Amino acid sequence: MNSLREVKTQMHFASDNNSGALPEIMQAMNDCNRGHVPSYGEDEFTKLANAEMQKAFGKCDIYYMFNGTAANVVALKSLLQPYEAVICSDVSHLQNDECGAPEANIGCKLLLCETTDGKLSPQSIEEKLLRLGDTHHVQAKVISITQPTEYGTTYTLEELQKLRDFAKAKNLYLHMDGSRLPNATIHLNCDLKEVVAGFDIISLGGTKNGLAGAEAILSFLPEKKDHLRYLRKQSMQLAGKMRFVSSQFYAWLVNDLWQDTARHVCGLAQELAAKLADLPEVEITQKVQSNAVFAKMPREVIKEVRKKYFFYVWNEKTWEVRLMISFDTKAEDVDGFVQAVKQSLSKHVPTHR
Ligand SMILES: Cc1ncc(COP(=O)(O)O)c(C=O)c1O
Repeated sequence: MNSLREVKTQMHFASDNNSGALPEIMQAMNDCNRGHVPSYGEDEFTKLANAEMQKAFGKCDIYYMFNGTAANVVALKSLLQPYEAVICSDVSHLQNDECGAPEANIGCKLLLCETTDGKLSPQSIEEKLLRLGDTHHVQAKVISITQPTEYGTTYTLEELQKLRDFAKAKNLYLHMDGSRLPNATIHLNCDLKEVVAGFDIISLGGTKNGLAGAEAILSFLPEKKDHLRYLRKQSMQLAGKMRFVSSQFYAWLVNDLWQDTARHVCGLAQELAAKLADLPEVEITQKVQSNAVFAKMPREVIKEVRKKYFFYVWNEKTWEVRLMISFDTKAEDVDGFVQAVKQSLSKHVPTHR
């Protein structure tokens, strides 16, 4: 293989990270690929993007970044003293998929709440607060939730309200890992402002939603403005050619591209789940409320279908799998996947017809 054009690609159901970028996003990067402008975010392209972000999310300070782990770490770091801790779920990305970045880069402890559907509730958080004020114990200071959760479930607006009331009563900050926030917003049939309302700081994902290497922190705490500005740079996340990151968010918001994309992925996830649920040997294990489908199916089937359509085994003990829809997944891909599962079932499960 001698050129980029010769590299072969496949349709995966593994992650919305496995897809490329939306054509409109590539176009936006092209549109700002001309001339010289001030660097590090002082340019007019970035100002346009900031205006769209504020229209969509409300008045906030915006810090574009390259990846979601850094957005989570910098956001949380801005809120914590060295002896303070973060309450999050035991299935959170913070806990399981960031290679200890919060512990290593903030030096903080994560206080884990057990969950079966990825969601935290005031009751589950309450027990982590028992030793508030005790010199010998870390002091919980932030509640971090993921919306939609790592299990593809979505907090309702009522559940978010309860968390807001609770955090306020206990004097805790609220952080949202929104790496797939548009999908939760479409599921809830509301707008972006409503989903983030009352939260102090958001890690907003772009990459999983059709952008490329573009994430952002949205801070609703004006007093943290300078702190976050320096922390982003110290955390090596300040882009010199910022226009190529910020312009992606502009294109994503300006014509409601985010809505079309989120509607598409959520709709296809429902379709995939419904078709798989019709097969007696397949069990859908979580509510489908974003672009992920969690399921259990026979091991031999998983091994075989994965060769054609790669996807992850989420839990190696139970063989629960995660199937994820991307902006470029088509209805034919979903049908092809279901067909591959059916064919494999008929080979490996004698009773299957
Ligand atoms: C819930 C969640 N948060 C954050 C991230 C960001 O991760 P990354 O650092 O790979 O961009 C991911 C990516 O898988 C995620 O699923």
